[in-house]
Amino acid sequence: DNGAHVPALVIGTGYGGSVAALRLAQAGVDVHMIEMGMAWDTPGSDGKIFCNTTTPDYRAYWLRTKTKAPLSNFLGFPIDKAVPRYTGILDAEEMGGIIVYQGRGVGGGSLVNGGMAVTPKRANFGAVLPTVNADEMYDTYYPRANAGLGVSLIDPAWFESVDCYQFSRVGRKHAQRAGFPFVFVPDVYDWDYMKQEAAGTVPKSAVAGEILYGNNAGKKSLQQTYIAQAKATGKVTISPLHKVTSVSPASGGGYTVVIDQINTTGDTVGTKTVVADKVFFAAGSVGTSKLLVRLKATGALPNLNNEIGKGWGDNGNVMCGRANHMWDATGKVQASIPCGGIDNWDAGGAFAEVAPLPTGIETYASFYLSITKNPNRAEFSYNASTGGVELNWQTAWKAPSIAMAKTIFDKINSKEGTIYRTDLFGTNKIWGDHLTYHPLGGAVLDKATDNYGRLHGYTGLYVIDGALIPGNTSVNPFVTITALAERNIEKIIATDM
Ligand code: FDA
Repeated sequence: DNGAHVPALVIGTGYGGSVAALRLAQAGVDVHMIEMGMAWDTPGSDGKIFCNTTTPDYRAYWLRTKTKAPLSNFLGFPIDKAVPRYTGILDAEEMGGIIVYQGRGVGGGSLVNGGMAVTPKRANFGAVLPTVNADEMYDTYYPRANAGLGVSLIDPAWFESVDCYQFSRVGRKHAQRAGFPFVFVPDVYDWDYMKQEAAGTVPKSAVAGEILYGNNAGKKSLQQTYIAQAKATGKVTISPLHKVTSVSPASGGGYTVVIDQINTTGDTVGTKTVVADKVFFAAGSVGTSKLLVRLKATGALPNLNNEIGKGWGDNGNVMCGRANHMWDATGKVQASIPCGGIDNWDAGGAFAEVAPLPTGIETYASFYLSITKNPNRAEFSYNASTGGVELNWQTAWKAPSIAMAKTIFDKINSKEGTIYRTDLFGTNKIWGDHLTYHPLGGAVLDKATDNYGRLHGYTGLYVIDGALIPGNTSVNPFVTITALAERNIEKIIATDM
C-alpha cells in the first residue's frame, strides 16, 4: 500500500527474486515482491491460463500489437500476426542490435522457458563466476538449487520408444555419426505427467506444443516451487502489475521505492511510494541493469560505481535448422521440452540443444539452439535525450557464435549430405543471430557489487539475479542463477539482517 514500510522489498519474481523471498521469509523477515507482469493464476474464456505456441492470442506478448516469434518464417512465409495489446507473458524486447526474450509475470522466465536445468561442468565454472568458491557451489548450492527447482532426467527407456522424442533421437543419431557426444539434459518438467500426456490419459501440455507462451500443466515453474513455498510461509506478499521506477535513499534510513501500478494495456493507473529497509534487485539482467543505469545517471543513486551496466552478454545464443533427408523424419508430434544436447564446448566452444519444432506437421527439419563461448560483451548506457537506457550490442558480434556452432553443424551436414534450412529466420537466412533467450550481466558480481551481490556505494541494496553473471554460463543459465542466489542470500541473512 502507498506509504507502507517494509523490511525487505524484492523487485521481480524470477529465479533470483524467488530464492531471496523464500529464504528471507524462512529467516523470519516479511517480504514484499513487486512484479510488473501478471499473476497468471486465472483462466481465460477458453478455460486455460496460457495460450498455445501455435495459436498466440492476447496472452502471448508483452504490450505488442503483432507477435514477434523467435522463428519468424516458415517455408519462406512470415508467421507473425496481429494480437491485441496486452500485458502478455513473453516480452520480445528490442535492444538495438538484439531482441532479448524475457518472461513477464509472477515467475519471470520460468513461465516461458524450456525448463532445461543444466549445471555447468565443474571444469568450466571458473570462467562463469571466477571469484566464487567452486567447492561450495558444487557441494552445497547447486544441489540446493536443483532440489528447490524440482530437476530430474527423462526416463531413458521411455525416451527410446516415444513418438514425441523422435526429433531428439534423430538429433542424437546425427550427432553421434559425426563424432559428437549427445548428452541428456535435465529439466523441471514433470516427466511422469508427460508420460501420461503421451498415453492420452491427462490433458496435453508439452506434447501439445505448449511452451513459449506458458505451459498449462506439467512444467514446474517457480509458481509451483520456490514461490509456492514462499507464499506458504505467510510472510511473503506479491503485487503483480506493479513496476518499480525508482529507488533512492530515504531521509529516515532505508530506501524510498516508487512503483507504478499498470493495467492490462500497460497504462499507468496509479503511483505508490513505499519505504524499504533492504531492496533486492531481481528484475532480470536487462530489468536490473536498466533500473540501476538510470538511477545512477539521474542522481537517484549517484554512488553506484562505474561497473553498473557493464559485462552484458547473450550467453552466445544462436539458432539454426537443418534439412534432413526423407528417411530422417523428425515427427509430426514433438514434445516442446528439449531433453538433450550436443556437447562440443571444449573443442569448438558450442553446446547445442536439440530443440523441438512443434508445428504439428512433419517438417523433416532438425532445429537447434546453440550456447557458445562468444567473448563479446555489451554495455547499457543512459540516453538523456530520450530518458531511455540503451544497449550497444551489434548483430555482427554474433559472428563468433556462428563460427562455433558451425564446428558442430557443418560437420553433421557433411557427414549426412544435408544442408541448413534457410527459411526459418527470413528468406535465405540460415542463422537466428538476432536474438537471445539468455541475457546475463550488467551488474556483475565482485565488480558492481561485492562478492555476495551487495551493491557498492549503498548499504542495504542488493543484486540477486542474472545481472550478476558476466555474460555466459556455458549452458542454460537458470540453475546457476538460482544456485548463486542461494549462496548469496545465505550470507546476506547471516550477516546483514
Ligand atoms: P527473470 O527474467 O526470470 O525475472 C525478472 C522478473 O522481473 C520478470 O518477471 C520481470 O517481469 C520483472 N521485472 C522486470 N523489471 C521490473 C520492474 N521494474 N518492476 C517490477 N518487476 C520487474 N534458461 C534455462 O536455464 N533453461 C531453459 O530451458 C531456458 N529457456 C528459455 C526460453 C525462453 C523463451 C526464454 C525467454 C528464456 C529461457 N531461459 C532458459 C532463460 C531463463 O528463463 C532466464 O535466464 C531466467 O529467467 C533469468 O532469471 P532472473 O531471476 O535473472 O530474471
